[in-house]
Amino acid sequence: MSAILLAVAGMDPKPWETSLRSRAPERDLWLWPGQVGDASDVIYACVWLPPHGLLATFPNLKAIFNLGAGADHLLADPTLPQVPLARVVHPDLTMRTVEYIVLHVLMHHRRQRHYDAQQRDRVWRVGGQPAANEVAVGIMGLGTIGGAAARSLAQIGFQVAGWSRTPRLIAGVQTFHGASALDPFLARTEILVCLLPATPQTKRLVDLALLRKLKRNGSAGGAYLINAGRGALQVDADILAALEEGTLAGATLDVFEEEPLPATSPFWTNPKVTVTPHNAGDISPQVFAACVLEQIERCERGLPLDNLIDRMRGY
Ligand code: GLV
Repeated sequence: MSAILLAVAGMDPKPWETSLRSRAPERDLWLWPGQVGDASDVIYACVWLPPHGLLATFPNLKAIFNLGAGADHLLADPTLPQVPLARVVHPDLTMRTVEYIVLHVLMHHRRQRHYDAQQRDRVWRVGGQPAANEVAVGIMGLGTIGGAAARSLAQIGFQVAGWSRTPRLIAGVQTFHGASALDPFLARTEILVCLLPATPQTKRLVDLALLRKLKRNGSAGGAYLINAGRGALQVDADILAALEEGTLAGATLDVFEEEPLPATSPFWTNPKVTVTPHNAGDISPQVFAACVLEQIERCERGLPLDNLIDRMRGY
């Protein structure tokens, strides 16, 4: 008997279950919590935010498939079994996240929140904004998603730069890498997009000191921040302080230090902040099921898995 475990927390597991069952009706699929059976039957696990300790209870696990790109929660589990760990890399996930980034860069660039407020007050007044080619967007994290976002924004005409841990080359995009290049990257960036993975090196990187190094967007008076990476990258209180003092003219936050964002958080009502519920990088359950079943077939044919997470690197 070889079973696939589906352990999903923080979202409805049903669509994931339905997709896996309809693509592979012959496979034995177990749903956590609640499924009864012999733990030794579980060979593969498809997971999102599983409780720490859960995966260690399956002695015959051969591979773990993360339902998203970021695996920080999994890697923080001290009992995580030493089996290959793969994440999803797929044009579906990449393009949905790119849509989100382009949407929010343009929203800030075109001052859409300001026009929303005018609409509420029935005000008809045209304000100015610079052309895209006068505005510098900087992307922290130039993996598959960051690279695609950089290319899309460059195509719109923005001056795009990217910062990454190791050197990257992207046509039409100025690239910076390593700790020593962070300050020059920030100094030329008016709209900062964070897509970094959460690792010990990136934890709380986006603090008040970093935000103060950004270039002020001329007509808006302050810079803009978009975080579609991980909440652990940012210091929530420092973002509020940067908004308050005018260092930031606005922010779009898809991720937070604490998720779900508590009802008492001042982010909810700050007129300069757009809050989304960690949905920038949604992936379709059908795509996920297809990717995972292909990976399982690779495993069964003795081939190495694609898109493995490097545990030492943290992503
Ligand atoms: C979403 O947060 C992901 O990691 O894919």
